[in-house]
Amino acid sequence: MPRSPALVCCLLAALAALAASQADSEAVIPPWAEFKLTRQGAEGTVKIGCILPFSGDNAVKGNAARNGIIMAINAIAAEDKFGLPKLSFELSCKDTVCNANNSAAAAAELKKAGVVAVIGDVCSSASLAAKDALAPILLMSPSSTSDKLTIAGDNFLRTVAPDRFQSRILAVLVRGNTTTIKKAIPVVLVYEANSYGQGLADGFAVAYKNLTGRIRFNRTVTPTNAKSIATELANSTATRVVIATNNNTWVAEFLAAGAANPTFRPAIFAGDAQLNPDLPSLVAGLDGSPALLSKLQATAYNQGTGTFRAKYKAFTNDSYTGHAAHAFDALNALMIGYAMNSEFVLPKAISLQSAIKANIKAGVSGNIKFDATGDLIPDNTAYQSIRYVGGKVVLGPFLPLPPAK
Ligand SMILES: *[C@@H]1O[C@H](CO)[C@@H](O)[C@H](O)[C@H]1NC(C)=O
Ligand SMILES: *[C@@H]1O[C@H](CO)[C@@H](O)[C@H](O)[C@H]1NC(C)=O
Ligand SMILES: *[C@@H]1O[C@H](CO)[C@@H](O)[C@H](O)[C@H]1NC(C)=O
Ligand SMILES: *[C@@H]1O[C@H](CO)[C@@H](O)[C@H](O)[C@H]1NC(C)=O
Ligand SMILES: *[C@@H]1O[C@H](CO)[C@@H](O)[C@H](O)[C@H]1NC(C)=O
Ligand SMILES: *[C@@H]1O[C@H](CO)[C@@H](O)[C@H](O)[C@H]1NC(C)=O
Ligand SMILES: *[C@@H]1O[C@H](CO)[C@@H](O)[C@H](O)[C@H]1NC(C)=O
Repeated sequence: MPRSPALVCCLLAALAALAASQADSEAVIPPWAEFKLTRQGAEGTVKIGCILPFSGDNAVKGNAARNGIIMAINAIAAEDKFGLPKLSFELSCKDTVCNANNSAAAAAELKKAGVVAVIGDVCSSASLAAKDALAPILLMSPSSTSDKLTIAGDNFLRTVAPDRFQSRILAVLVRGNTTTIKKAIPVVLVYEANSYGQGLADGFAVAYKNLTGRIRFNRTVTPTNAKSIATELANSTATRVVIATNNNTWVAEFLAAGAANPTFRPAIFAGDAQLNPDLPSLVAGLDGSPALLSKLQATAYNQGTGTFRAKYKAFTNDSYTGHAAHAFDALNALMIGYAMNSEFVLPKAISLQSAIKANIKAGVSGNIKFDATGDLIPDNTAYQSIRYVGGKVVLGPFLPLPPAK
């Protein structure tokens, strides 16, 4: 329902759309700190924050997410979507490098600056730290998946499903097709004891055992043991290893060390953190043969519809869309929540109650629907598998979600 009191004549609307689309074509990606879309005759300005990694290992994801937010803002302005009145937008982004302290400090700054909501962070540990610094302003993450972020009534929402679902999907991927494979193969579980790795490993262990699988042994990732774990596995008779860490430098070292060892046999399974377009170059940079990458299969979140991927490519000339699609849907969900706030006075924060009700059927990253804690409710459009072929990410089929408990 449009909130703007003015009845807008078709011609004016057409002119406005034209002006907005001209603004779009000028909206080449500016230096990352600020993005402004100023519209003549706007009823107000929506200030949105973003806390993302624009440097370090996760920069590709942070940049993609920011581009996705900008695309969503441009699309809303072009069409005045969701019954929003004519608005200008200011997006203020801070580079957190996925570090918890940086992220919390950036969140506090944005709160002071009066943003209505913030999109971020990429890493769960950073989101965990930032949400409290930001409260009661909402934080919506396009990619933080730790189960520790499932907290009823807090100010955190996300457009990806939590690890407890991903770990079940990962177990299904590792277990294989039970029609053709009768016996589950014992696996070695290698995980990092942080929010991401521990959550994924614990969930995987439960789900894999539930699928009649067995954990042979597990190892914990430390900053210096990538090579020794690869060597230990090459020495063992293990045929499957599951990796749960979001440190791709570690994974690259592990893959390089494994490739250098002719007796390294296991197939490698991993979670969404290893869907990283930088991974091939990280491995190659270590003088390791990237050959082991072809043994890696990972679960991934919906990487965006074909239409979105094409639009993203046209906008950025970049082909990595995963975080862009989830951030695009996050901005839309927040703006739906913004439009739903009962008293529409600018500027104001978006309320948890209205954001939770935001419902996007067939968003660019799948169906968006939140549960009472602000978590995405996943369905069979939530996950797909990926592989690396010739150093490039190849998207696999959607992975069906096993039945809930
Ligand atoms: C955050 O800051 C605290 C206190 O200075 C420090 O102990 C901790 O290691 C820092 N954490 C990160 C992830 O940098
Ligand atoms: C499992 O294998 C059977 C027999 O080859 C096939 O019909 C079925 O589609 C497979 N299921 C999945 C989920 O791949
Ligand atoms: C790893 O192994 C230890 C010892 O068997 C066990 O206590 C722990 O729960 C295991 N961790 C996971 C994530 O399976
Ligand atoms: C692997 O096996 C070699 C040769 O048997 C041995 O020297 C080495 O210590 C083993 N390394 C590990 C990590 O088990
Ligand atoms: C990631 O792994 C690399 C290599 O194993 C290590 O040097 C680095 O300290 C790790 N980073 C973190 C944040 O643990
Ligand atoms: C887009 O990317 C391709 C390949 O990465 C490159 O050859 C081309 O010059 C780029 N175009 C623009 C406009 O940046
Ligand atoms: C365990 O398996 C049953 C069906 O065999 C399923 O309903 C349940 O959700 C599974 N639990 C987990 C944690 O995967």
